[in-house]
Amino acid sequence: MFEAIKPAPPDAILGITEAFRRDPNPQKINLSVGVYKDETGATPILPSVQEAKRRLLETERDAGYLPIDGDPRFNRLASELVLTDRSSILAEQRAATMQTPGGTGALRVAADLLHRVLPDATVWVTTPTWPNHPKVFQAAGLRVEQLRYFDAAQNRLDFAGLLEDLESVPAGDVVCLHGCCHNPTGADPSPEQWERIARVLQDRAVFPLLDFAYQGFGRGLDEDAQGVRTVLEHVPEAFLAVSFSKNFGLYRERTGALIAVAEQPEHAANVLSQLKACARANYSNPPYHGAAVVKTILDDERLREQWLADLTQMRERIRSMRTLFVKTMSALRPDRDFSFIEQQNGMFSFSGLTPEQVDRLRDEFSVYVVRNGRINVGGMTPQNMQRLCEAIAAVL
Ligand code: LMR
Repeated sequence: MFEAIKPAPPDAILGITEAFRRDPNPQKINLSVGVYKDETGATPILPSVQEAKRRLLETERDAGYLPIDGDPRFNRLASELVLTDRSSILAEQRAATMQTPGGTGALRVAADLLHRVLPDATVWVTTPTWPNHPKVFQAAGLRVEQLRYFDAAQNRLDFAGLLEDLESVPAGDVVCLHGCCHNPTGADPSPEQWERIARVLQDRAVFPLLDFAYQGFGRGLDEDAQGVRTVLEHVPEAFLAVSFSKNFGLYRERTGALIAVAEQPEHAANVLSQLKACARANYSNPPYHGAAVVKTILDDERLREQWLADLTQMRERIRSMRTLFVKTMSALRPDRDFSFIEQQNGMFSFSGLTPEQVDRLRDEFSVYVVRNGRINVGGMTPQNMQRLCEAIAAVL
């Protein structure tokens, strides 16, 4: 059987890091996968995480499985972080939260349940979106269609196009939006625009699946949750796929959560039972360690303060790299306007580079970015900036 199997194409994002690792150039720069790096180019273990790990090492006694839906205390803290601890949804017990292996695990469990309940539904994704979105949804058996989202000529959200497309999504279909720090464009709706989106979702009776992987990387922890909270004020039901990979720097620990918001508490309980059945048939139960770290931090006032400082530092470093990038580029190519990069939110810059220019960056300069032109600003440093910008200036 294996003889007949052809090699699969490399992954659009993680495949680039595989190519980067094979590149012998000592000056190579990897700005493909969305992983934060500090000034020295290392992906740091945050001081708050370091301390939580130390405490866990001293106190851990149990090596057994977690429940299928994960650690209940982690689930509570995760939902309070996203929805706020004052949320009426939590007070009314309308949310069911399940710990998952990363945000991708949350998306997949959500997609499995959606396919069981709505076998004919289509998931509508933004154009562009995270390249793995269609793959996860299709792997679960769902159809995928595209919504207009980005105006590439103006380098900004195509809000009129998005609204118009949302207006024509059939009732009962699923719309996948990015809660903040849109990946790959960094173009997010304003609070007023979220309000209008939320109303269209409500009027059209479509089901929102909100991918929330970058809370705290845009403008702040609460500011970044504003869009998600606005949608939930309008719609009766939704899924939120949450990732703690970026904001806790827990990439390899696979730490995420799926929050199902329901109209009635008993609906939430029933949905959770079905989500558990989906998880059990997929990965059985989630990994322990990352969620234990998040729980330890959020449950301790001092550690939580430290984590907020760690998160602020990452967010501000990325902002400062945006400014430096625009400044360095304008010195090298005064004929081109890159100021839009300072308006974008989160980890990525959607540079406008063409796939051919991206290929030249890799082949001639050992600079690796995603072929849709997405550059990980979180991987820029004062040391690699000049070389990076010279390479980009050369291929433009
Ligand atoms: C990214 O978009 O680079 C991250 O979300 C990592 C991934 O899994 O693709």
